[in-house]
Amino acid sequence: MSSALLDIHLTDDDADTALRADVRAGLTAYPKQLPPKWFYDALGSELFERITELPEYYPTRTERALLERSVDEIAVASGADTLVELGSGSSVKTRLLLDAFTRAGTLRRYVPQDVSESALRLAMDALAGEYPDLTLHGVVGDFTKHLDRLPRGDHRMVAFLGGTIGNLLPDERAAFLTQLRSVLQPGEQLLLGTGLVIDEKVLVPAYDDAAGVTAEFNRNVLRVLNRELGADFDVDAFAHRALWDRRNEWIEMRLRAERAMTVRVADLDLTVEFAAGEEMRTEISAKFRPGGVRAMLATTGFSRTRSWTDPDGRFALTLAAAV
Ligand code: AVJ
Repeated sequence: MSSALLDIHLTDDDADTALRADVRAGLTAYPKQLPPKWFYDALGSELFERITELPEYYPTRTERALLERSVDEIAVASGADTLVELGSGSSVKTRLLLDAFTRAGTLRRYVPQDVSESALRLAMDALAGEYPDLTLHGVVGDFTKHLDRLPRGDHRMVAFLGGTIGNLLPDERAAFLTQLRSVLQPGEQLLLGTGLVIDEKVLVPAYDDAAGVTAEFNRNVLRVLNRELGADFDVDAFAHRALWDRRNEWIEMRLRAERAMTVRVADLDLTVEFAAGEEMRTEISAKFRPGGVRAMLATTGFSRTRSWTDPDGRFALTLAAAV
C-alpha cells in the first residue's frame, strides 16, 4: 500500500498577492520587466510543452537523453532514501529517476514540489498506482520561498532540473542555493541541471523558433495579466525578442511594443505608458560554464561530487553534497 500526503503552503490567494506585487514593481520599473514564473497558466504550460518538442529547442531532449544515460550512476552515487523534485513538471524525468533509485534499492519516499496543486494531485494519483511501495509526500509551494517547509529526512537528494536555475538572476541563484543548503543536513544532496554556454547560433534559435511557439509563449504573460488583473494589453502589438547577452551569458527574452501604447491594469489601478519600440524583459535563461557551476556550488556550501555532460557539451547534471 502506498501512502500519500499533500502539504499546501501556497494558496490561490498567495499567488494572486505575489502576481500583483510583481506586476506593480515590474511595470513601474525602468526598464520594465516581468518575472517568468507568470508564463505558466494552463495555456502557457501547454505552450511550454510544445516548445520542448520543437526542433530548435534542444535543452529538454538533451537533458532527458543525458539523464537516461547517467541516471543509474546518479542513483548509486547518491544512495538517497528520499527524492525531492523541485518544480516537478515533467513526468518523464520523474519516472526515470524513480525507476533508477528503485533499482538502486535505497529509495523510500518521493517528495514532488510544485506551485500548482492540481498538477501535483494529478501526478501523485498516477504515481501512487505505479509505485505502490513508495511514500508520496507532495508539497505545494514556491521553491524560492518555502524550502524550509520540505519534509525532513536523513538522506535526501533534491533534484532541480530543466535548467530552471538559469531563470534566476545571479544574486537570486546564490540566495536560492544558500537557502537550500541551510535546510539540508551535511551529506544530503542536490542534483542540479544546467544549460551550458554553447554557440550563439544554436542558443538563439532555441528561444526564437521558426514556428513562433516561443513568441506565443512569451506574449502569453500579457494574456495572464489581462485575465488575472483586468489589464488591457493589446497582445498582438508586442513582438517577441530573444537575444544572447554575451557579457552575462544569458538568453534574454523581451516583448517589444510595436507602437506607443497606454495600458490600463484595472485591478492595480495602474496606468502604464509604452513608447514605440520599448522593450520589456520577461525572462533570462542563463547558461553556465563547468567552472561557473562549481564556483556557484562551492560558494553556497556544496561540494561537487560528480557531474555528467552530453557529448555535445550542451547540458550538465551535477551531483553535489551539502558540506
Ligand atoms: C523551463 C526555464 C527551463 O529557460 O529554457 C523555454 C523556459 N523559455 N523557452 C528555459 C523557456 C523559453 C525554459 N525553462
